[in-house]
Parts: sequence; structure tokens; C-alpha cells
Amino acid sequence: MTACASDEGEVDLPALKEPIANPATDVTDLSFTAGWNFVSTAKSYLLDVSLQSDFSSFISGYESLEVTGLRAEVTGLTPATQYYFRVKAVRESAESDFSNVVMVTTTGTLIDTDVFLKDKAANNFFVGAAVSTNRLSGKYNELLTTEFNSITAESEMKMRTIFLGPGNYNWTAPDALVNYATENNLNIHGHALVWHVEVPDWMTTFTGTDEEFEQIIEDYIKAVVTRYAGKITSWDVVNEAINDGGGIRNSIFLEKMGSDYIAKCFQWAREADPDALLFYNDYNTPEDLTKQNDVYAMIDELQSNNIPIDGIGLQMHISIDNPTRQQIQVDVDKAIERNLIVHFSELDIRVNPDGRQIVNSLTEERDFAQRLKYKEVVDLYNSIPDSFKYAITVWGIRDPESWIIDQYNRPDWPLLFDDSFDRKSAHIGFLEGLE
Ligand code: GLA
Repeated sequence: MTACASDEGEVDLPALKEPIANPATDVTDLSFTAGWNFVSTAKSYLLDVSLQSDFSSFISGYESLEVTGLRAEVTGLTPATQYYFRVKAVRESAESDFSNVVMVTTTGTLIDTDVFLKDKAANNFFVGAAVSTNRLSGKYNELLTTEFNSITAESEMKMRTIFLGPGNYNWTAPDALVNYATENNLNIHGHALVWHVEVPDWMTTFTGTDEEFEQIIEDYIKAVVTRYAGKITSWDVVNEAINDGGGIRNSIFLEKMGSDYIAKCFQWAREADPDALLFYNDYNTPEDLTKQNDVYAMIDELQSNNIPIDGIGLQMHISIDNPTRQQIQVDVDKAIERNLIVHFSELDIRVNPDGRQIVNSLTEERDFAQRLKYKEVVDLYNSIPDSFKYAITVWGIRDPESWIIDQYNRPDWPLLFDDSFDRKSAHIGFLEGLE
């Protein structure tokens, strides 16, 4: 066919032929690539994806989706589900007929999403959440007791809350959390006995001798651990003692108690409760290899001196981009080599990481990426030999309360439940990781 001039002087182009849609490629549990053949003079193509062969409804975002190339990745799908796609060619206001309809079935197994996290984890490990005493009622209470079987105090078991002065302790908040856990049959992970942040003001201006300081810390650790022995089954004994980029972190504890302060704290905790599991907890070790090496070197030293340490907490404040599965696996493998139980202790997954354009709402793309990352992290954890598993603890319940928003000073949606306590795609990702 040849083009010819019309009465208006415009070029009359031939009618658009319909494209030929090809079998889907790159089919995964949650996505596939739709492709079709080039249509002469077409400027773009409109792609429809549906669950029905008659296209009586569309997958969100895939109704007449304009694509300029000859392929498009269709994401955000459900495993083991049959989809249909078709496409038409477009040139300005001209549209071709629809292509043939292609059927594609995503891989994987269809999972039952109407299930609670703790039930899906089926007692292989705890599924925990960070909480505070002012959030133990209403919907929080419902979610905590149905979805989760473990809690961690977000801040109310830190020194700043408990430690009013030498030998002077405020048990109100920790008692309330422990009672709540006991009444509701929830495990409780103690967090954190010694941390350089959130220390009480009086401690930073302490004027006694180093010996007196050390005695006060020993008394504190023993008082806290003894009080809850048999109720709190595990403790982060020391939190974040290694610097980003390596080296022991300077802190009031290092200054006054010397470089073996970590060993002393573990020893005192063990003396106070021989049955509690004792963890060292830190962040960013999958990405920061120097820090990771120094954490394990510190643990090697503890172990070679027979200091009791049972496990490691990898905080897992991560993003949809980093760390990679491989990086997390390397860290986990080092823990297992050392016979350490592994706790993913403070999991949240940012959707606005550095290096990406900031989004001001949870877009479908970020939502999907977050679901995949939750799936990846939980799947990795689930593949750890059972005897090394302890818990995955999510750092909060609802997105708007996450510490991430203040910390990074930009919007984010890092958790499993939205503003209205509704489950997000991330929740499905968590369940998928437990398959
Ligand atoms: C660190 C601590 C947690 C908490 C978070 C921010 O990860 O271990 O206790 O304070 O920072 O909420």
C-alpha cells in the first residue's frame, strides 16, 4: 500500500493493521512480559490485561496502557493465576483492531492470603512486632494478638525509661509490657540492656569513679534481667557497639568500663538468668562488610573467652533496593558458622531509598517492589536451619508510626499495615516468603 495526499493536503496513511501478540515471556510468580509484532506506521500500542478472556474488567494499571515499544512488563500479579492480554496499535486518533488474545499463567503456587502471619510461620519461629504501652488496646491489640506471637518494646525497656539513678528503677512501662505479653500468650524479647543512645541524663554527667560506674551498670543489668527471668526469654544485651565502617564505638560504657565492657555485660546477664537467650544486636552489617567483619571478630573474641552469647540480631532497617539477598545471606552464614541463633530484629523496608526519585504516595511500583523485598527477606530467613531461627520482628505495625519517617525526613510506608490497620501488599510478600 502506498500513502497518498488527501484533499486537505495531509498524507493519508494506510489503515493500521492489528498487532500479533506473542506468547508471554519472562513469566514469574508475580509478573510476565507481554510482547507483540511491529505494526507499520504505529506510534504506540495500547495494552489490556485481564483475568477474564472477554476483558470484562482489567488488572489495575493495565487498561489501555500506552506502550511505545513492542513489549511491556506486567507486574503486581498473583502466583498461579491465569491472565489474558491483548493489544492494539495506535497512530494519532487512529486505532487498529485488537490483536489475538494471549493467555498466560503465572508460576508458583496460589497462596491463601487470608491467614495470620504467626499461623503461617507455624511455630518454626516467632513473628514479632515492636510496641509501646500506649498502643496495647483496640485495633493494635487485635493485630498484635492475631498476627503476631512476640513483642519487643520499641523504647520502654531502654535505660532512659527504666534507669532513674543508681539503684533506682522505674518498672511501670516494662511491667505493663511483660504483663500484657503474659496475659496474651506472647513471647517477649528484651531490648536493650546496654546502648549508647537513650541513656539517662544523669549517667552522662556521672562524676563517680569508673569502678563505681561499672558497679552501677552491673547492678542495673542484674536487676532488670532478674526481675523478668522466666518471663522475658531473650535479651539484646548490647546494641550497636560497632561503628559504621568498623571499629568499636566510642561510648560512655567503653570510656568507663574498658574495651571488655561487652564481655562483662553478657556475663552479668547470664549470671542473672541462666536460661535467657543473649543477643548482640546491630544494623547495616549486610551492606557494610568492614563493620560486619568487626562484629564477628568481636563475637569470636567473646566465644574464645567462653563469654555466653547465644545469638545475633540483624536489625534489618533496609530498603527495596538494598541490601541484596546475597549480602544478607553472607551475614547470616557467618552467624550460623559461629553457632549463633539469628533474629531479624527490627525489620522495616523503605520505599523511598537514597538514589531513587522520592514518591509522595505509595505507588503501585514501590508497593510491588516492597512486597518482593519482604518476600525475599522472609524467604531467606525461612530457609535458615530451624535450630538457628528465633524470630522476625517487624519494627512497628502501622506505616504512619514508623520511626523511618522522622529519621529520613521524607514520606515512607515501610511496614505491613497501612494507616487504617489494613494489610498492605507487603503483608502478602511476608506470607509468600513463608511458602
Ligand atoms: C535502633 C534501635 C531501636 C530503635 C531504632 C529506632 O535500631 O536498636 O531500639 O531505637 O533504632 O526506632
